[in-house]
Amino acid sequence: MTFIFVKLRRPPTGNIALLLRTRDCFPTLAPRSRWPRGQWHESARLPGRPDLHRWSSVGAVVDVAPELDEVRAAEVIGSFCLATDLAIGLPFEHGLQSTLVAMRLAERMGVDPAAAKQTYYGCLLVWAGCTTDAEISSELFADGALLKYFNPVIFGSPAETLAGIMKALADPDSPPLVGAVQGAARLPGAVRGHQRHIVAMCEVAEMLCERLGMRRDVRDLVRGFTARWDGKGTPRDLGGEQLPVALRILHVATDATFQCLLGGTDHVLRLMRDRSGKAFDPDVVAVLAEGIADIFAFDDSGSVWAEMLAREPGETLMLRGAEVDRALAAMGDFADLVSSYFIGHSAAVAQLAGAAAARLNLAPRDVVSVRRAALVHDLGRVAVATSVWNKPTALTADEWEHVRLHAYHTERVLSRSAALTKLGSIAGTHHERLDGSGYHRGVTAPSLAMPARLLAVADAYRTMIEPRPHRAARSPEGAARVLAEAASAGRIDPDAVAAVLEAAGAAVPRMARPAGLTDREAQVISLVAKGLQTKQVGHRLGISAKTADRHLQNAYAKIGVSTRAAAALFAMQYGLTSWGELPIPDTGQRS
Ligand SMILES: [Fe+2]
Repeated sequence: MTFIFVKLRRPPTGNIALLLRTRDCFPTLAPRSRWPRGQWHESARLPGRPDLHRWSSVGAVVDVAPELDEVRAAEVIGSFCLATDLAIGLPFEHGLQSTLVAMRLAERMGVDPAAAKQTYYGCLLVWAGCTTDAEISSELFADGALLKYFNPVIFGSPAETLAGIMKALADPDSPPLVGAVQGAARLPGAVRGHQRHIVAMCEVAEMLCERLGMRRDVRDLVRGFTARWDGKGTPRDLGGEQLPVALRILHVATDATFQCLLGGTDHVLRLMRDRSGKAFDPDVVAVLAEGIADIFAFDDSGSVWAEMLAREPGETLMLRGAEVDRALAAMGDFADLVSSYFIGHSAAVAQLAGAAAARLNLAPRDVVSVRRAALVHDLGRVAVATSVWNKPTALTADEWEHVRLHAYHTERVLSRSAALTKLGSIAGTHHERLDGSGYHRGVTAPSLAMPARLLAVADAYRTMIEPRPHRAARSPEGAARVLAEAASAGRIDPDAVAAVLEAAGAAVPRMARPAGLTDREAQVISLVAKGLQTKQVGHRLGISAKTADRHLQNAYAKIGVSTRAAAALFAMQYGLTSWGELPIPDTGQRS
């Protein structure tokens, strides 16, 4: 299965027309009478390796880069697991460590291959629903209170669990006695909501797992996480060997890894023995107790990412084409769940950024990258408390610092995976501005290629037309005006603004270019900076070489330069081009 891009040159005929007309191959194409020519169109999943020569009879054809066409599922869900660490407030890679503990247990127990797979994917995705009801939780509990008081007793006795919830409900600064009263007063409402929350969390986790390409048995495992060995979990009376062995391993691995964080392996052993036969399968606890030193042996100086990938049981699970988009969209939705203000934001930005990239005729692989980076651009939001996102008044300096770093967290989560690193580096720049006034790094125009610029503008546009706790939504016209002003001031790219607004169906206001250049002169300078000769510039823009030269001379006069080198420097300074677009030869290892 593969994907191709086709740019139509002429109306297709014969078998190709038939294929296109089915719209199974090119679902974005309109009926034949309105097939747009001169734009790249991405195919749906095509069987096998398509005959590119056949397709070239109607237009230019490009294969999608293999790294975009096919991604290891373990890399995607491993990255998702890192995001769940951030959402819960756990150390980075904690979920990966839990998975390794689970797989080491599964190996010692000699489980069958199907159970090993269930254990592996289930453990990586066990907290997939953790952003569900984040707003309700943030109203009931202080930041970090659930992690501190509730997580240690999730697998404890009912009395311990209740006591943990009560402590988490108290105001953090209250003296113990006052806290106890507060907890008791708030408990009935919290317990009532707790049951609904658990159901919602499990349902959301299951739905996200389905979109991440997980089989039914893994989805069932995640959905049934709240069951217990003694039948006192949810669903009630389901316990013992009725529970899949993968779930029994997952329970022990998840809790043991967390308890190890709190008190080391001696603490783990004490607690596991206490919970054996209650929350946990005694056989799994016995295996853990016997090999605890080896099972918890991690190389603290390095990442556990590579071992996590190496531990994938059986055949490597791959996501291909639309499956990759679907999985990344699930991750974006997971992040959007942190606040009702963000619901649908990531998907809408992706749709807009992808459409704008196609309008700008970016290379097909860049169109795919922009769309996929947009799907996950706000993944790092989960690292910031919902109470901060939902605050209706001005943020404190500390809160702003957390917000500022969400783009960094996005990049961090995606940086472990070789297949997702490039998406992460685009996604991590979505708040950067050409003049260096953005965040989180404050980079300037030369570091921001068009995919990053498009994502920044699409995100800014969608954000403005969506309501936020501290302001109402702007009208599309108002948002377009703000974008045009920012483009005229050199903060964002005018071409990206025009493409995004056109893709959104909004009118494009006039935007001032640096040094009073016209749009055409700016295009000419940009192409000259990229190393094109005047004749090539004319060809690229569909104008004669003579006209191109006239625009170039006019631009030189406005800028006040007379050489291509100086024009290239101007293009860099004012964001007409970026480092990646300059004709700098690859110097290999030389620095
Ligand atoms: Fe953001």
